Formats: sequence, C-alpha cells, structure tokens
Amino acid sequence: MLDVLRSGRLSLGPAIDRFEELFAERVGAPYAAAVSSGTAGLHLLCAIAGLQTGDEVITSPYSFVASANCFIYEGATPVFADVDERTMNLDPAAVEATITERTKAIVAVDIFGYPCELDPLRELCTRHGLALIQDACEALGTEYRGRIVGSHGVDAVFAFYPNKQMTTGEGGMVTTHDEETWRRLVSLRNQGRADGGGWLEHARLGYNYRIDDIRAALGIGQLEKLDTILSLRQAAAMRYGELLAEVDGLEPPLADDADHVRSWFVYVVTLARGTDRERVIAELERQGIATSRYLPSIHLQAYMRERYGFSEGLCPVSEDLSQRTLALPFFTAIETEDQARVAEALAAALRR
Ligand SMILES: Cc1ncc(COP(=O)(O)O)c(C=O)c1O
Repeated sequence: MLDVLRSGRLSLGPAIDRFEELFAERVGAPYAAAVSSGTAGLHLLCAIAGLQTGDEVITSPYSFVASANCFIYEGATPVFADVDERTMNLDPAAVEATITERTKAIVAVDIFGYPCELDPLRELCTRHGLALIQDACEALGTEYRGRIVGSHGVDAVFAFYPNKQMTTGEGGMVTTHDEETWRRLVSLRNQGRADGGGWLEHARLGYNYRIDDIRAALGIGQLEKLDTILSLRQAAAMRYGELLAEVDGLEPPLADDADHVRSWFVYVVTLARGTDRERVIAELERQGIATSRYLPSIHLQAYMRERYGFSEGLCPVSEDLSQRTLALPFFTAIETEDQARVAEALAAALRR
C-alpha cells in the first residue's frame, strides 16, 4: 500500500491488474474484474445479462438484500423461490416451479459460504435459456463438486467488506470465463470507457464502480494470507462444533459432504422450534456477547412488501429459518476462551 501511495498511481494502476491476476488464479477463473463492492459487481452482471423492465429474476429470499437488489436496479422483478432447509440455499425444484416465460435469469447465492446447487441450476438455465449469476460474496474458498467456486464456468461475484473472509475495506471481484463479459465489466465499471479510447470518450452508459490501487494492494496482501485466514476460520468453526456438540436446543451449521465444502463466513446455529430467540439474544447481550439475527427473509423487508406486495407464507422454509437462526461471534482471530464463554452462555440461556 505504501508503494502505491509513493508511486502516485492511486487508481487505474498496475496494483489493480496484479490483484485481478492473482485472484483469478486463486479461484481458477481465466478473467477477473475488481470493483468497488460486491453489490456493484452483481449489478454489472445484471446489466450485461441485458435485464429489462418486466423481466423476472429468480433468487433466494434467505440472503443479504444485495442479491435481490442488483437486478431491480435494471427494472427486473424479483421472484423468490424457497430454500432447502438443510443447505439454506435455493432449492432447484422450487426454482423450476417459479419459471415463467418472463424469467430471464437466476441469481444463486452461496449463503454463509455453503455452495449452492450449481449443476442442477445450470441445467435449468441451459434448458430455459436463462442467465446464471453466482453470488459468491460470502464464499471465497468454497468448493462445489471438488472444485473451488469461481472455477465452474459460471460468472461469480465475491465481496471484500470487513466481515468477509478477506477484506479490502470495501471492494469486490467479478470472475468470468468469457472474455467478452470481462471486456464489458471493465468498461462498465469505468464510466463506459472503451478499450483504447480516450479519457472523455464513452462507448456506453457506465458507472463508477472502480476499486483503487490502494485497496487493490491491500487485497494482494490479503490473498497472500488467505490460506492461513481460511484455516484459522475453519479451526474456529470446528471448535464451536465441539463446544456446542452436547448443547440441547440447537442445530449446528450443516456439515460438509463430498460435493459441498464450506468456506467459513459466519457461524450460524438454528434454534429448536419454540425457543424464544429474543430472550436468548437478550441474555447473551447482558453478558456482553453480541449475536445477530442472520438472516431476515428479503421478501418481508418493508420496501419489498410495499413495492411488490409480498407477505408471510410466500417462502415458508426461509421464513421459518429467519425466526430461528442466530449468528454467534465469529472472526478469524477469535480466541478459544471467548468461544468457550459464548458456548457456555448460550447453553445456559437455552436451559432456562
Ligand atoms: C450474499 C451477499 N451478497 C452481496 C453482498 C454485497 O457485498 P458488498 O457489501 O460488498 O456490496 C454481500 C455482503 O455484504 C453478501 O453477503
């Protein structure tokens, strides 16, 4: 970062190119375009998919709002398909049931770093002529069917907000296997400037979704540490698993299997039905332990209800999870003793 500051090239410089090269290599994609946030990256892929007013896009209700907002910016209408209770990701059968002749794309999310059902979703997209956008903002390092997310040929977006596996402060990355998509990404993030064109020549309507070289340098530093970061997070998650194994009244996050290997973004437990989650949260808070209601269902957010008339009952699995899931304190450098204190306090709160 100091080298960048001293170089005088604070944006549109070589640190961005290097960050993109290293990132693309890390996730097994031929092309990567760094952007100002995960949301910006998702929006650009929606613009490139040519989404328009009246088009429908199917996505997950159990996610962070950006995965649904990204195509609303282009005028498309959200269609929420319910999630699988185990994986908390889009259920391909529910997706198929919501396809109409207006459907143009699917935005699939790897929620909490657990991979979505990419192959069945891709098969649906091929059969119905839909674009597939993978929101991998929480999933750097996740593996699906033996390969890292980013390498499967699907356009994917990663995010680097400070709570993510690696951070650039704010920032994101789009990976693609298609050169033309990459060229469009690079142009659209930079005010629609064309390759080789002048500074004040704009080939298309674009945005300022650039990252700068200072943050790109931070990203390079984070990539150098990524293996260590991911293994520390994995170890912390395993520790919670051991500490909570004997605790009644909660389900731990879904374990990996041969096709699904999670990269640890958050540690979310599911409380038994009938548990008063607010009381548990309050009891932990009294002991100085912050937890979070991860995640509310997107279709029930105030602006979604107002704009589209969505209400309870649309996606029962997601809505049920939204009432019962709880994110525990979780970050790369969390200490074993702190995790033990969280587990003890949670167990005590659930016994009462
Ligand atoms: C699933 C998901 N999608 C999109 C985003 C948006 O990323 P950003 O905050 O970088 O815009 C995030 C992270 O906040 C996320 O968790």
